[in-house]
Amino acid sequence: MIAADTRSPEPGSDRNRDLDRRLAEYELLLEIGVKLSGTLDLATVLETALETAEAVCRAETSSIWDVDEEKQELFFRVVRGRAAGEIRDLRVPIGQGIVGSVARTGVAEVVNDVATDARWHGDPKGFKTRAILTVPLLVQGDVIGVLQLLNPVGRDRFMEGDLRRMSLFAGILAPPLQNARLYAAQQRQFLKMVTALAETIDKRDPYTGGHVRRVVGYSILLGAELGLDRALLEDLRFAATLHDIGKIVVPDRILGKPAPLDREEVDVMKRHPVDGAEIVSHLANPAVLVGVRNHHERIDGKGYPDGLSGDDLPLVARIIAVADTYDAMTTSRPYRNGLPPEQAAAEILGSVGTQLCPYVVAAFRSLFERGSFTLAASESVLRSVYEPASHH
Ligand SMILES: [Fe+2]
Repeated sequence: MIAADTRSPEPGSDRNRDLDRRLAEYELLLEIGVKLSGTLDLATVLETALETAEAVCRAETSSIWDVDEEKQELFFRVVRGRAAGEIRDLRVPIGQGIVGSVARTGVAEVVNDVATDARWHGDPKGFKTRAILTVPLLVQGDVIGVLQLLNPVGRDRFMEGDLRRMSLFAGILAPPLQNARLYAAQQRQFLKMVTALAETIDKRDPYTGGHVRRVVGYSILLGAELGLDRALLEDLRFAATLHDIGKIVVPDRILGKPAPLDREEVDVMKRHPVDGAEIVSHLANPAVLVGVRNHHERIDGKGYPDGLSGDDLPLVARIIAVADTYDAMTTSRPYRNGLPPEQAAAEILGSVGTQLCPYVVAAFRSLFERGSFTLAASESVLRSVYEPASHH
């Protein structure tokens, strides 16, 4: 092991210029600290973290390792740079290798010639590691992750100053990272609970089993195709999960009727968006609420309960309407068979501008035409949206 190299002077001969540069770097770290402490979005925290680390100590690859408590292993949360593809799936037991030993000791290290380090296990194909800077992310003395930079750019070794700056940065980064993780875990838990509740109500309708799950899948496909940002996709997912929650107050004899509903029954059924929005009014934000309340509106204003039309109709509601309509058409009922997908798609395209929003239907069309309007496709979209991604 070679400890942080303290012998070489920092590059740059002009002392003032050097000081200015360092001040600018510390200023950047502070700025990032302020920015990070204000966000709970895990993906943003991670991305900002690595961008900053690279800006301050230029390196070929940077990564953040996460701790798998159960398996006592480290795995990549984010990887940036050239080797991202090759090393993404790597897992390292705590205590093994350079990164594993930093995770165990909680002490930052620079190894400037990995080949001479006994802990070094060699490179994956296509990448050559020369030097590694490894800093633990500590919260109240516990290692919650590891920040790593590989191969300094334009120099052959990491310096003492790099280690100092990254240690400082790790101290700034760890608490917001931990907060964002806890928040994400809490959100997942909440979503699970809400999904369980929605599916319980879904099961009361014996003919449409799995409706909620499918509407969530289709909605997320449409939302992603329309390029919605993460926060809006999150709202959309909640709203789609909860869209029919108001059916909890619809009597079984109506919900489970094996025949078309009569007029009075239709009126009872039509109350579910309003009841649903009321039920979730204390749980959900406004975008989720309108998704629940307005998923049976029509773009021409002839829907219910509010008769909203055009741009007054919130996008989340317009998306759920397309997903809901498609699923209703492709699902069989005792008194009618579900349509084959192509026919349902044709109906969707035919109701543009009257029932459904042209903008959302255009997204539906391009997904459908390339064979991507499927639940299998929605699974991978859900995964890529909700798990902080690795970067190339
Ligand atoms: Fe509904």
